[in-house]
Amino acid sequence: MNAPFPSDAATASSPIPTLTLPTGAPIPVLGFGTYKVAPEDAYDAVSRALEVGYRHIDTAQMYGNEAEVGAALEASGIEREQIFLTTKVDNSNHAPERAAASIARSLEDLRTDYVDLLVHWPLPTLYGGDVALPWPALEDAFAAGNARAIGLSNYERDHIEAVRSIASVPPHALQVEAHPFLPNEALRSYAHKLGMVFEAWSPLARGRAITDPTLVAIGDELGVSAAQVTLRWAIDRGHVVFPKTLSPARMATNIDTFSFSLSPDQRARIDALDEGEAGRTGSHPATMNRL
Ligand SMILES: NC(=O)c1ccc[n+]([C@@H]2O[C@H](COP(=O)([O-])OP(=O)(O)OC[C@H]3O[C@@H](n4cnc5c(N)ncnc54)[C@H](OP(=O)(O)O)[C@@H]3O)[C@@H](O)[C@H]2O)c1
Repeated sequence: MNAPFPSDAATASSPIPTLTLPTGAPIPVLGFGTYKVAPEDAYDAVSRALEVGYRHIDTAQMYGNEAEVGAALEASGIEREQIFLTTKVDNSNHAPERAAASIARSLEDLRTDYVDLLVHWPLPTLYGGDVALPWPALEDAFAAGNARAIGLSNYERDHIEAVRSIASVPPHALQVEAHPFLPNEALRSYAHKLGMVFEAWSPLARGRAITDPTLVAIGDELGVSAAQVTLRWAIDRGHVVFPKTLSPARMATNIDTFSFSLSPDQRARIDALDEGEAGRTGSHPATMNRL
C-alpha cells in the first residue's frame, strides 16, 4: 500500500496532523461530520466540536444544517483561515446554472466567502448519465476563490474518469464510504495515484465499529475505545475522517487518536474485517438516485 502518512507536525491551534491537497493547502486528517445532525442540534454540536479542538467540519446542502453550522463557526470567533470547511452541491442542483446558485446559497448560509466543495453523488441514472454535469460550476467557484479546493463524493473510478475527461482543473479530493468492513482500497489507491486526497465517510460504519469484537479487543489491549482504534487505522491508511457524534465526551475521545499507535499485527487483524460490498452501510453510487 502506498498511502501518504500524515505529517505529525502539530500547529499552535490544533494538534491534528494534516495532509496536503494538490492545491498546496493543508487538510486536517480528522474532522467533525454533521450528517443527521438536525438543524436544532447543529449549532450546539459544531460549537462543542470547535471547543474540543476540531478544525475541520464536513457538511452538505442535503443535510439541511448549513445555516446552523455557519452560525456556530461565526460565533466561535475562530479565524476562518484556521478552519477547513467542506460542503456539497445538492443532488437536485447538478444543472450548471443551479450548481452555481447552489454554491452561492451554501456560502451565504455558511456565512463565509469560500469553502472546499464536493459534488455529492454522481447520479449516473439521472441527468442523462452526465456525471460531470456540475463540474464546470465547481471550476468557476475555484477560479473565483469561492472554493479553495474542489472534489467529488461517491464517484467510482469510471465516474472520476468522466470528470477528468472534461476537466480543466482535475478533482482535488474524493470522499467515499470507507471503514474496516468496506475499506474501498481500490478506490483509495486510485485516488492517491491521481494525487487526490482520500476522505472516508462513515469511518465508524455508522456506529457498527463501536461494538465489533475485534476492534473492542484491540481497544482493550491499548486502553482506548474501539472508535479510537478504528479512526487510527483509517488515518494510518491515508484516509481523512470526520466521525459524527452529538456527545461532547465522544467528541473528545474521537479526536484523541494520536496518543497511541497500532502494531502491524493489530492493523492486520483490522484489515481482516473487510467484507467487501457486504460491508457497505450506505447507497451504492451506481444506483443512488435520490434528488
Ligand atoms: N458524502 C457522503 O455521501 C456522506 C455520507 C455519509 C456521511 N458523510 C459524512 O461523514 C460523516 C461521518 O459519517 P456518519 O455520520 O454517517 O457515521 P459515523 O461517523 O461512522 O458514525 C456515527 C455514529 O457513530 C456514533 N458514534 C460516534 N462516535 C462514537 C463513539 N466514540 N462511541 C460510540 N458511538 C459513537 C454516533 O452516535 P452518537 O451521535 O450518539 O455519538 C453515530 O450514531 C457524516 O457526519 C458526514 O459528514 C458523507
